[in-house]
Formats: sequence, C-alpha cells, structure tokens
Amino acid sequence: MSEQDPMVDEFDTVASWTVEAVRGLGADHALPAACRGSGSPAALDWLADALGIGAGTHLLDSGAGVGGPAAYVARERGARPVLAEPMAGACWAAQQLFDSPVVVADGLRLPFADATFDAAWSLGVLCTVEDKATHLRELRRAVRPGGGVGLLVYERTVAELPDQPEGNHFPDRAELEAAVAAAGLRMVEEVPLADLPGTPDDWQRAADAVDDAVERQHRDDPRWVRAHEQEDAIGDLISRELVVGVLVHCRAEAQGVPA
Ligand SMILES: C[S@@+](CC[C@H](N)C(=O)[O-])C[C@H]1O[C@@H](n2cnc3c(N)ncnc32)[C@H](O)[C@@H]1O
Repeated sequence: MSEQDPMVDEFDTVASWTVEAVRGLGADHALPAACRGSGSPAALDWLADALGIGAGTHLLDSGAGVGGPAAYVARERGARPVLAEPMAGACWAAQQLFDSPVVVADGLRLPFADATFDAAWSLGVLCTVEDKATHLRELRRAVRPGGGVGLLVYERTVAELPDQPEGNHFPDRAELEAAVAAAGLRMVEEVPLADLPGTPDDWQRAADAVDDAVERQHRDDPRWVRAHEQEDAIGDLISRELVVGVLVHCRAEAQGVPA
C-alpha cells in the first residue's frame, strides 16, 4: 500500500486522529467512534449471542480497526478480546482508547498458534481483502475445534458496481459461500443488518461529534479528503442497497479443510 492509498488514509491516519477527538469530547465518545464496521450495538449483541460470547471468552477480533466492537463485548459481557489489525495507527488508537491487547498483524497470516481462541470475528473486513478464503481460513485455524467464527459482510447485490471504491472487493453471495466453504467453515445462521434495531440516537450523536471534531481539525489535509470520499462512496453503495450488510455465524466443519 502506498502513502496515497485511501485505505491507509481511512484505516490508519484518520483512525489515529480519532484519539485526539475523543480526548477533547470525553471518554463516553470512545466506543461509538471506534466501531467503524458495524456501528450498532444490536449487531454486536446478535453476533455475541450467536457465538456464545460471555465472561472470560477469549475472542480474536481480526481487522479490529480502532477496537470499538472488542471493547464493547469486553465491557458488556466480560469477554477477553485480542485485537489483530494491519494498520499501526488503528492499533495505537485502540491501545490509547481502551488499553486493548493488540498486535499489528495481517489477517492473512495471523501470529497465533492453532486453536488459541474460543471464538473469532471479523467485522467489515472481508470486503477489504482480496483473498477471502485465506482470511477466513486463518480465523478458523485460530479458534479451538467447535469454536464460532462471526462475520459482518458487506455483500454485493448486483453483478457490477457503478463505482467501485478503491481497495474494496465486495463479494456477491456466491463468492461469500465459496470462500466460507473453502475455509472449512459452515454457515449456521445469518441476519441482514437491516433486520436489527438501528444505532441508538445517543450512540450516533457521539460518533458524529467525533467525526465533526476530526473534520474541523483536518479538513484541509488531503488524507482526510481522500478518506472522506472513500467513506461517502461506500455509504452511497449501502444506501442504494447495491451492497448490504449481513451478519453471519459460522462454525468449523467437523472434518475441516487442511490449512
Ligand atoms: C471497515 S474497517 C472495520 C474495523 C472494525 N472491524 C470495526 O468493525 O470497527 C475494516 C478494517 O479491516 C482492516 N483490514 C484491511 N486489510 C486487512 C487484512 N489483510 N487483514 C486484517 N484486517 C485488514 C482495515 O485496516 C480496517 O481496520
């Protein structure tokens, strides 16, 4: 990835700017601002219930971003998440905001032994990764036999997108199913994000306030402009339902597939 890469702008540079904005607004803004893939607590609750995340659950969050979802299940359920994320700026932000255990790591080559975790999830990551089967296979490898793997996937509903945001590779249904099967995972249940309660107003207000503070501080910076354009392009695809968010609960196949 180059210094001009909008993925770096969005997931590294702007992610790290979140910290100063939260410090200015108050710690209660950290969680809403740091959930960049899912946003809604209802979505995280659905996935946490499906995966059986409770007190002490050792959870891998791969592509954890700024760490909001992991911090949410740590706070609400007493889970013990570990964050893996390739962007050092996002890892730094997660550490600053939540004191989370975090490792700078590519989700295609996780630095964990087999069966380290009780469960794993990857939220809004699959569409940023070309080699989806390897990303999923790494999640399966990292969880103990029988452990759950949760996904938030932005699924493409049309053959071709009119405007493909740089660095994004939204899978259609067939590609998602093929990648899940190739990873030795089985889909157990799923729910469209649209079927769950939306983001609560106070949560949305806090996230917006952080975005506004970052914008005020950095709107003249070309990195903010590129990241903002990227976010707008994806928001547009979602609002036109050309891509739809789906939560998926998977389990490892009994026989598995050799990694
Ligand atoms: C839309 S954000 C979601 C962040 C977080 N999961 C959340 O829900 O708030 C996508 C994340 O995927 C990460 N990502 C991109 N390529 C990755 C890879 N090869 N392995 C793991 N994560 C990756 C990005 O750096 C970014 O933090």
